[in-house]
Amino acid sequence: MEPLLAIRGLNVRFGPSERPVPAVADVDLDVAPQEIVGIAGESGSGKSTLCGAIMRTLVRTARVSGEVMFSGRSLLTLNDGEMARLRGRELSMVLQNPMTSLDPLYTIGNQVEEVLRERRRDGAGLRPGGAIEVLRRVHLTAPELRVRQYPHQLSGGMRQRVLVGMATAAAPKLLIADEPTTALDASIQDEILILFRELRETAGSAVIIVTHDLSAIRRLSDRVVVMYAGRIVEEGPTGEVFRAPRHPYTRALLASLPRIEGDEVHLEPIPGQVPDLASLPPGCAFAARCPVAKDICRGQRPPESVVADRHRLFCWRAEETA
Ligand SMILES: Nc1ncnc2c1ncn2[C@@H]1O[C@H](COP(=O)(O)OP(=O)(O)OP(=O)(O)O)[C@@H](O)[C@H]1O
Ligand SMILES: [Mg+2]
Repeated sequence: MEPLLAIRGLNVRFGPSERPVPAVADVDLDVAPQEIVGIAGESGSGKSTLCGAIMRTLVRTARVSGEVMFSGRSLLTLNDGEMARLRGRELSMVLQNPMTSLDPLYTIGNQVEEVLRERRRDGAGLRPGGAIEVLRRVHLTAPELRVRQYPHQLSGGMRQRVLVGMATAAAPKLLIADEPTTALDASIQDEILILFRELRETAGSAVIIVTHDLSAIRRLSDRVVVMYAGRIVEEGPTGEVFRAPRHPYTRALLASLPRIEGDEVHLEPIPGQVPDLASLPPGCAFAARCPVAKDICRGQRPPESVVADRHRLFCWRAEETA
């Protein structure tokens, strides 16, 4: 099947050119229509930068190169007007902090209506019911009251539901959710995640979800992408990667998940720290923390190993971890 999103050789660098910070390096990634892809990796691994490069929301000083094809269009070469038209319609994003994504000066109803108006202008068939119906679909309590309220009158969880509702109403071909539930209570997190699945069912959207919550990725996504120091280190079908992770970093990440055995909670934090992107070693960036690293790992960047259909990793020890 033709991918909806095809990223090739994507690089994003911040900072001065004499001492660049390669926040995203040599990323290739495909997302199929209606596919849910989870992106995992420790803080600073480049997840948000990757999302920002796709949405073209990075700071102007970011140096972006490579190719991002979305639904037959090359996103990195569209002009700002064309990009703005795509955003919020075919391509939308839900961010970690819902307060900054809603306009404090307009009521919730006004803002949801605006999305609906855009869709009507596009000639899209709309379910009747308007803003109240949109809010009801995301299980917001008292939607008749909420449409008349302003963002500051809603809790964080409610605001996030409103944003997911707006994303649903826009029925984008691709929704990018960057840590959409981090600021929310655990009880609300699950409900929001279920809404993403519903979005796929009702609107036929593909979803890229970035989260530190690996168990959410396990439950929600079709495919998982693991990033480390700006690079994809492993990518594969979710069930397969969780059952038999191949990259030592993926293994370490999964071992760092809390496990409950009897009355005890076990977790093994990954020893060491993420490297400074401005002075990366020549070889594998994970080598310094890797329990199975050998000399070549420190000296040369690992090549791609294809494990199975759509399952690949970048590791010199790929043979041994089978
Ligand atoms: N505007 C910027 N200017 C300079 N460096 C930046 C900028 N934005 C991000 N970076 C750097 O790029 C790297 C990747 O950051 P990014 O926010 O993409 O990571 P992340 O995986 O999303 O982390 P987190 O899990 O904490 O959200 C970090 O080293 C960060 O300091
Ligand atoms: Mg981030």
